[in-house]
Formats: sequence, C-alpha cells, structure tokens
Amino acid sequence: MARALCPGSFDPPTNGHINVIERAARLFDHVVVGILANPGKEPLFTVEEREEMLAEAIAHIDNVEIETFSGLLVDFATERDLSVIVKGLRAVSDFEYELQMAQMNAALSPGLDTIFVTTMPSWAFLSSSLVKQVARYGGSVDGLVPPGVSKALKERFAG
Ligand code: PNS
Repeated sequence: MARALCPGSFDPPTNGHINVIERAARLFDHVVVGILANPGKEPLFTVEEREEMLAEAIAHIDNVEIETFSGLLVDFATERDLSVIVKGLRAVSDFEYELQMAQMNAALSPGLDTIFVTTMPSWAFLSSSLVKQVARYGGSVDGLVPPGVSKALKERFAG
C-alpha cells in the first residue's frame, strides 16, 4: 500500500494546496497532510486553525488524513511509514529550493522519494503569503482559497 505525505505550512491553505492534495490522493492509496507546527516565522493562524481549515476543505476526499508535526520532516515520514513526499511546483523559481530540500531529505533518509506535481495554471500565481498580503489590505481572495479560509482571513483582518 503506497502511502504519501503532503507537507507544508498551510498558513493558510490555498486552492493550489487543495489541488495538489486531491491529485496525490488519486495517485496514492493513502495520503497524510502534514502541517508544520513550528515554522521559522510567526504564522498568521495557529496550527489548530490551519488544521480546521484544511479538514473542511478536504472533507470530500476519503483517503486523506491530517496530522501536525514539528522537527524534521524525515522523522515524521519515518514514524508514519510514509515513503513518498508529494509537492507542487509552480514555476522554475520553486524548483531550485524544492530540489535542494528533496535531496537533503533523501540524504537524511535514503529511500524517501520526493515527487512533484506541476501546479494547475489557474493556481500557478498563488501563494499563502500573497493571499495574506491581499487579504490584509482588504482585497478579495474569494475563489483563490477555500470558502472557510476566505472567511477566516476576513475575520482576522477585520477592522
Ligand atoms: O509550505 P512550506 O512552508 O513551503 O513547507 C515547507 C516544509 C514544511 C515542507 C519544510 O519547511 C519542512 O520540511 N520543514 C520541516 C523541517 C525539515 O525537515 N527541514 C529540512 C528540510 S530539507
């Protein structure tokens, strides 16, 4: 049974993230979405809020579960018996850093493979940080993020 990991900060989840998770769920028997609990920078949403937003957005997918992790991704993948990491690639600019992380993870945990799915063109420009920036200054992110995320952003930046 092939089990894959979709890791990320998901601060907040975007439609691009959801699309990558949906596609991973079609490719693998079981997918764990791993939310990084302690990213280097201060997150806008707590890990519990991010988990709740993701759970609502992927409720339609049967073979996916959500977990949080801290520390090294390779340790989390080993503990949960996840042998493949699935990540989305938006543009060539993503590739350099993603390649470096994939190779570091493979060096730390031989046998742990990273595969990339190319982001759908409709979400290629999307990132959590841009979404936060637009929402912070009152712009609409409806249609770019799941409805629950859009609502949470509006509430967070209200007033
Ligand atoms: O959504 P992001 O912020 O691009 O996700 C990055 C993530 C969570 C995949 C990456 O930061 C990560 O794996 N962090 C865990 C710490 C770790 O293992 N670092 C070494 C990676 S080579």
